[in-house]
Amino acid sequence: SKGNHRHFMAKEIYEQPEVVGRTIAHYVDFSRCAVRLPELPFSFRDVSRLSISACGTAYYAGLVARYWFERLARLPVEIDVASEFRYREVPLDPGQVALFVSQSGETADTLASLRYAKDQGQHTLAVVNVPTSTMARDSAVVAPTLAGPEIGVASTKAFTCQLSVLLALAIGAGRQRGTLTEADERRLVEVLAAVPSLMTEALRSEGEIETVSREIAKAKDVLYLGRGTSYPLALEGALKLKEISYIHAEGYAAGELKHGPIALIDEAMPVIVIAPHDAVFEKTVSNMQEVAARGGRILLITDRRGAAEAAMDTMSTLVMPDCDPVVAPLVFAVPAQLLAYHTAVFMGKDVDQPRNLAKSVTVE
Ligand code: M6R
Repeated sequence: SKGNHRHFMAKEIYEQPEVVGRTIAHYVDFSRCAVRLPELPFSFRDVSRLSISACGTAYYAGLVARYWFERLARLPVEIDVASEFRYREVPLDPGQVALFVSQSGETADTLASLRYAKDQGQHTLAVVNVPTSTMARDSAVVAPTLAGPEIGVASTKAFTCQLSVLLALAIGAGRQRGTLTEADERRLVEVLAAVPSLMTEALRSEGEIETVSREIAKAKDVLYLGRGTSYPLALEGALKLKEISYIHAEGYAAGELKHGPIALIDEAMPVIVIAPHDAVFEKTVSNMQEVAARGGRILLITDRRGAAEAAMDTMSTLVMPDCDPVVAPLVFAVPAQLLAYHTAVFMGKDVDQPRNLAKSVTVE
């Protein structure tokens, strides 16, 4: 049931502090301040490359994870959408690890990629939400997300649970590879523990988001920008908006702006900038200034520190709680989801059952 909510999507957005908390608790031993990995038939110490494949929102979770595995575990990651990975004839050295991310565990292209990887002698590791799914059965190792059933066609809570699992895996990999110390792990576990309450705080911006969604609803095109882990989040924000409101939206790496999309900037196309106060914040701010200088209207999604430092004239600024940059994707997913949701609801669209889309894509 939808409980007190009008749509499953709203219910699932609001469930996130709880299901993310539950998922984190599954992968973290709080008494030891250490991550708890599923039993692995390999050590990340012996791995020289991780290949990730997935589709849609699950692919964007994988894109975020690339930054985490590379930064925290110094493990090179290659990632592709499963529909390309399966036909690319990727050369894979036996004994490496192939990771798959899927809510349903039934997505045809992801499943075919998993089988291809297996044939190529890869250790297979699947992050799945449906424990009885084909992928859960076919993968050597399963790392479950504990999001519970996701009904809304637009994936929300599965995404943030996927991020939680992937971050725990990256921390665990970092420990096995010796790139993270015990003290680093302890600190990161504390950061993880704070995520559910940060998400609850992020949900409090709903009223403001509803107001700005009226502006977004007027647009024919919307551009989302982000750098670092906010880049995949920009892609995810754009996907959410186009799926349920049918407004054309694109996500771009903020640094790519001047390589083309800047030509599109005018007052009719809102530019949504996702910019937590992290190591690349100032770079993103300078891209934002380029947008403003060309008459673009900006919706800035940042945190308290970012809002204080950016000092820019925006159409609107949404202020998330300050958090460690490593978990910003989990917190900043919330406003991106709410914005898509309210825009679509305001436009009278069927957010739970958008046209032409199915919850799980079992044909290629
Ligand atoms: O079940 P999966 O996670 O494998 O599904 C992958 C995509 O089909 C899915 O994320 C899709 O993009 C959603 N509609 C996104 O909201």
